[in-house]
Amino acid sequence: MLEYIGLGLALIHFGTPLSYYVYMKKKYFGKPWDMKREEGFKPKITVIVPTYNEAKLIEKKLDDIYAQEYPRDRLEVILIDSASSDGTLEIAEKWKEEHGEINLKIIEEDSRRGKAHSLNEALKHSTGEVVVITDADSFCGTRDSLRRAAEWFSDPSVGAVSCLKDPEGSEAPSIELGYRGYYNVLRVAESKAYSTPIFHGELASFRKDLLEEAEGFPVDIGSDDSHTATKIAAMGYRAIMPEDVLCKELVPKRGYNSWKIRRAQHLVQHFMKAMKLKVKAPKNFDRILKVEEYLHLVNPWILLGGAVLLSASAIMGSLISLIFLALGIALLMYKPYRTWISMQLYLVIAAIKNLWSREIVWEKQEK
Ligand code: GDD
Ligand code: MN
Repeated sequence: MLEYIGLGLALIHFGTPLSYYVYMKKKYFGKPWDMKREEGFKPKITVIVPTYNEAKLIEKKLDDIYAQEYPRDRLEVILIDSASSDGTLEIAEKWKEEHGEINLKIIEEDSRRGKAHSLNEALKHSTGEVVVITDADSFCGTRDSLRRAAEWFSDPSVGAVSCLKDPEGSEAPSIELGYRGYYNVLRVAESKAYSTPIFHGELASFRKDLLEEAEGFPVDIGSDDSHTATKIAAMGYRAIMPEDVLCKELVPKRGYNSWKIRRAQHLVQHFMKAMKLKVKAPKNFDRILKVEEYLHLVNPWILLGGAVLLSASAIMGSLISLIFLALGIALLMYKPYRTWISMQLYLVIAAIKNLWSREIVWEKQEK
């Protein structure tokens, strides 16, 4: 009996995301966008770069923004630093002196209270119609990433736009690359269906008045980008990740697992909080949100339950359980499966870790 419950759980665990993926890909991924995008639309943009100990990367980051093809008089950059101890501010100040033609404001916080807290502070100083948040350790995929992201806002139904990301260069562990294919297809498909509840801090842009309506970025959870986008989608605006807005992120060379666990902790916090949102958006989005909540909060535990039952019954002599367990382990040779299983483990560990530490102010991983 135990083995059948175990197998049933495994079937649910793998079957749900697989069916969701196949369904979303078939129904939405290849579909044209159902909104009007005006080429040449150039709203005033405020780019906010939050920094904490980014001395190694900040110059390259500012150069990357500088290289963006966007009219200088429509662009404002705000760097907000939370008491870095590695000289980030000095490098930024020096860069500012050498690049007088770009409008860069530097704000200095006297203590570190987390990324979202400083984003809210920077928001008070921003004058753009569109606010773009971008992490210091990420770079635009193309020189027109900003312009492309901004153009989507020409449609009044669009409230937020993020980027697809590829891990930078060959330094990325293959596990990270495997994860992105499945993941990017889903983000685009959800966006075309209505909105995606997952955003990327590498480039997350928002209509400023909606950010204000949403009361800024949440400071009680880590996933400020995804949660704010989801809130805006719930308010009835589109939060999308189009195929043509690309970013690169640096993947840590060391501490990869703790990095993934921390990010999983933030995603779990986001989806727990999202369950309490009042969704005014079309039914479509309600369904997407429910599926993603299920996939992040429940599905990993179903796998764990299935594995425990199969192991227990295998120990008690069930041949079927033994065969399926062996199959499950042998499949680890296959990269996409291995990537999937590790993500499930990260999510389980994350949910447990959230019980005592929420990682709102986190330790930096060396990139
Ligand atoms: N001002 C300020 N204050 N900036 C901070 C702080 C802080 O306390 N902590 C981190 N940052 C900055 C970093 O310097 C970087 O520019 C950005 O916030 C993201 O921090 P990372 O340390 O690179 O985090 P990550 O890439 O692992 O985090 C990703 O996931 C988070 C959610 O889990 C990013 O996508 C984040 O944007 C996202 O919030
Ligand atoms: Mn980062």
